[in-house]
Amino acid sequence: MAEILVTRALPSDILRPLLARGGVEVWEGEGPIRREVLLSSVGSSLGVLSMLTDSIDAELLEAAPRLMVVSQMAAGVDNIDLDACARRRVRVGHTPGVLTETVADTAFALMASIVRRLPEGKRLVEEGRWGSWSPFEGLGGDLHGLILGIVGMGGVGRAVARRASGFEMRVIYTTPRAVEGSPGQAVTLDELLATADVVMLCAPLTEETRGMIGVAQLEAMRPISYLVNVARGQLVDTDALMEALGSGSIAGAALDVIEPEPLPPDHPILSLPNCLVTPHIASASVSTRRAMAQMAVDNLIAGLDGTEMPAERRPGG
Ligand code: GLV
Ligand code: GLV
Repeated sequence: MAEILVTRALPSDILRPLLARGGVEVWEGEGPIRREVLLSSVGSSLGVLSMLTDSIDAELLEAAPRLMVVSQMAAGVDNIDLDACARRRVRVGHTPGVLTETVADTAFALMASIVRRLPEGKRLVEEGRWGSWSPFEGLGGDLHGLILGIVGMGGVGRAVARRASGFEMRVIYTTPRAVEGSPGQAVTLDELLATADVVMLCAPLTEETRGMIGVAQLEAMRPISYLVNVARGQLVDTDALMEALGSGSIAGAALDVIEPEPLPPDHPILSLPNCLVTPHIASASVSTRRAMAQMAVDNLIAGLDGTEMPAERRPGG
């Protein structure tokens, strides 16, 4: 049995230093590694290179008595029980930083798409409903001059805020810890919801943020405001959002992440014209996904060798 398990096929040139150590098993199947395969494969593992689709929980740690390191190819680690890993002295690596600018680019693309009503325009053209040019039909909002409300001023939130200044937006934000020199004005979540034209979710999924946008928060938003989510689907109550979009209590939503993922194609939220859903691709540029895979390999090797990881994630850190 392998000592190193990689739960998804990655570019061979990036895996090379890992493969050179020997004892590596790479899951080459279609889609995420199946749970029972994962559980039966980790019995002799010292290291696992994981994806956000793998649940690294107490059951898995129980099945992996020799495990020293979990290296995740993602910034978010909400699929990993950090406390359980710490108790077993399993080190955890992740890939923050290298994806920040790409996620912020995608956040902007989502915001632009929904505010300028691009998905509705695309649908209209494809469905043969493009009549003559029309002066007052299908009008949307403007990006420039908007008040952008960023929830979570980590790396991604700050990168979004920097882009906003080029669009002459005003930035307000709410974040649990004070951030030095951040563009924009710190406000409470309640103030942000009541004021922002676009509420942009950039916060990690934690016990504090789970379900933070529900019925009351959506009601606090204005009918002309939009919700954009590039964080985790579980921050938002999908049913409440569907209700708010359907009743017009908010203007629209653009979601790169949603609960559940993958979203079934017949999910009713997809029939709403003012909702854009993309399949969790915010970091999915060629160079950024390579950088993430590289960092995950580097973290794993450092963890196995007992040296400093490029990015180690500790509980509460
Ligand atoms: C993607 O969602 C990530 O956390 O890297
Ligand atoms: C990731 O979520 C970051 O803030 O960099």
